[in-house]
Amino acid sequence: MRTALIDRKPDLGYYRNVLTSTALETQEALYATHLGRLYHGDCVQILQEIPDASADLAFVDPPFNLGKDYGKGVSDSLTECEYLKWCSEWISACVRILKPGGALFSFNLPKWNIELGHMLNEEGMLFRHWIAIDIKYSLPIPGRLYPSHYSLLYFTKGKPSFFNRPRVPVPICRHCGGDLKDYGGHRDKLNPKGLNLTDVWTDIPPVRHQSTKRRGANELSLKLLRRVLEISTQPGDLVLDPFGGSGTTFVAAEEMHRHWIGIELGDCEPIIQRLKGEKPNVSPKNLGDAGKGMSASRARKLPPKDPALG
Ligand SMILES: C[S@@+](CC[C@H](N)C(=O)[O-])C[C@H]1O[C@@H](n2cnc3c(N)ncnc32)[C@H](O)[C@@H]1O
Repeated sequence: MRTALIDRKPDLGYYRNVLTSTALETQEALYATHLGRLYHGDCVQILQEIPDASADLAFVDPPFNLGKDYGKGVSDSLTECEYLKWCSEWISACVRILKPGGALFSFNLPKWNIELGHMLNEEGMLFRHWIAIDIKYSLPIPGRLYPSHYSLLYFTKGKPSFFNRPRVPVPICRHCGGDLKDYGGHRDKLNPKGLNLTDVWTDIPPVRHQSTKRRGANELSLKLLRRVLEISTQPGDLVLDPFGGSGTTFVAAEEMHRHWIGIELGDCEPIIQRLKGEKPNVSPKNLGDAGKGMSASRARKLPPKDPALG
């Protein structure tokens, strides 16, 4: 189904009506809901059609150049130089598309996010946080420390136009139910709504079960996207995700009444099925991002030593 969304109006009348711009007039959406539209194709091309200063948030979770199979038309084995050049193209486009005060979150391996952070600095963006997302299961690498976090960079286009600091439950021991931390006798003074969120997130589960996973590779947890949207957007805002994958960002946006524009170069069927509430249909799983930042060929050669990797 191909649907032009240009003259659709969000039925949530009190939200800011951000989809009535002439954005993407020449491009037809592959799929549309009342809140968003999904475009099938290369984001570097499609981003060019989105007007300046139109999105409140850009969330980017590109392939990590680890030689993964994302399907026809998607290469995940570029040289480092090619990969970074490609990243700089869509980063510039995302910065242009963000409204002043808009936020950009980049989910990647530390190895790449160092470079992407530099690019964002060069683009004049304001650094806010390097968020460490704890990895529950990863592969030991000979001669290196055990990679134990993904990096989530958080930048804004100047002073943030919106920032909300979520509260999280006080961490407790899952065996005895007691507090994991010692609050020095001030436990009763803690805010009943929970603790302030820090820049180390240990509560994001991996999406590994085939019964819930939408695609063979790299689906992020909805909890992560809900949190990113909660921090940086309000109902009615426009969220851009140029690397749709299984559509996690779009599902979070729908749930939280944000508008969204999504792009995916590979198979879009899993996204559409998910948005329609249909059951996932996935092929056998990949190894996971075992090699965190090492070359793809090396990552493929290593045996999965951690039983959790299967
Ligand atoms: C790591 S996955 C994103 C996963 C997504 N965040 C989720 O939770 O499902 C990266 C996606 O980017 C897509 N992709 C790769 N190159 C692309 C391009 N040039 N334009 C648009 N999408 C691209 C891949 O097909 C893949 O689905």
